[in-house]
This record gives sequence, C-alpha cells and structure tokens, in this order.
Amino acid sequence: MASIVTIYGTGEGQTAKVADRIDDELGTRGHETTTVNVSEAGSVELADFDAVLIGASIHMGRHQKAVRKFVTANRDVLVTKPTGFFQVSGASGDTSEVGEAEAFGYLDEFIDATNWRPDRIGLFGGHFAFRSMAFWCER
Ligand SMILES: Cc1cc2nc3c(=O)[nH]c(=O)nc-3n(C[C@H](O)[C@H](O)[C@H](O)COP(=O)(O)O)c2cc1C
Repeated sequence: MASIVTIYGTGEGQTAKVADRIDDELGTRGHETTTVNVSEAGSVELADFDAVLIGASIHMGRHQKAVRKFVTANRDVLVTKPTGFFQVSGASGDTSEVGEAEAFGYLDEFIDATNWRPDRIGLFGGHFAFRSMAFWCER
C-alpha cells in the first residue's frame, strides 16, 4: 500500500470529478489517498507521500496558473518520487489527429514551462459547460 496525494486545478469542476474518480479507484486498490484542490494545497507536504499526481484543465490554451506555480515550487520534491500528470481539455474530446496534436501541444508546453517530466500522463476529454458560459450571451 502506498500513500498517494492528488493536487488538482479546476475551472468548472470537471478536473475535480476526474481527481475524485482516480482517488476512489486508488482507494479500492488499497492505497491511502489524499485529494486536494490546488487552491488549498499550500500546507500539503509532498515529501510525506510515496507518490504524487497533479491534474489541471485547459482554459484559453493554458493550464491553471496555480497548478503551474505549485509544480514549479515543488519540482525538487516531485523529481524524487513516482509522479503522474493528468490533463482535462476540450482538445482531448476531439479524437482526430488535430485534437490529439492540440492536447499534446498543451502538455509539451506545460513540461517545458515547469521543467517537470511526470512518469505517467493521462489526457482526458473535458466537458464544455455551456451553462457556465451564459454570461457571454447576456446583454
Ligand atoms: C472559457 C473556457 C475556455 C476553454 N479553452 C479551452 C482551450 O483553449 N482548449 C481546450 O482544449 N479546451 C478548452 N476548454 C475546455 C475545457 O478544458 C473543458 O471544459 C474542461 O472540462 C474544463 O475542466 P474544469 O471544469 O476542470 O476546468 C475551455 C473551456 C472553457 C469554459
């Protein structure tokens, strides 16, 4: 059994759902899990865990700034542990080569910007919440 912490950023809650699902799955496999929104992760000591997962979604071509900052600030610990990164985006909802290239483009940019290369990567198609966009349509 390993202790695994998941830190995620989310705009409309989809990445939170993915993080919770991963947490549940790891729990059923007997691991001790902790899942925290990056906005509340200031007091999390990554060194206390056996493995770390980081999640983020894409808005306007970028991951949450708070996730980038968290990864950059904790890079020295991250490189000493087994790690994974999952990304939720509209691009991964498009299974064509174009969608795939776009999703990998976001990922490459994140790896370059943070100088952190996770051991495992998951790319998930997001859910576009039209209702949350209603303000664009209001007069
Ligand atoms: C305002 C807005 C901008 C978005 N921009 C992008 C984008 O540039 N590229 C992309 O692939 N997906 C984009 N998406 C889709 C999101 O990545 C997708 O809805 C995802 O599920 C959001 O996850 P979250 O609720 O955890 O933030 C955008 C969604 C919204 C609402």
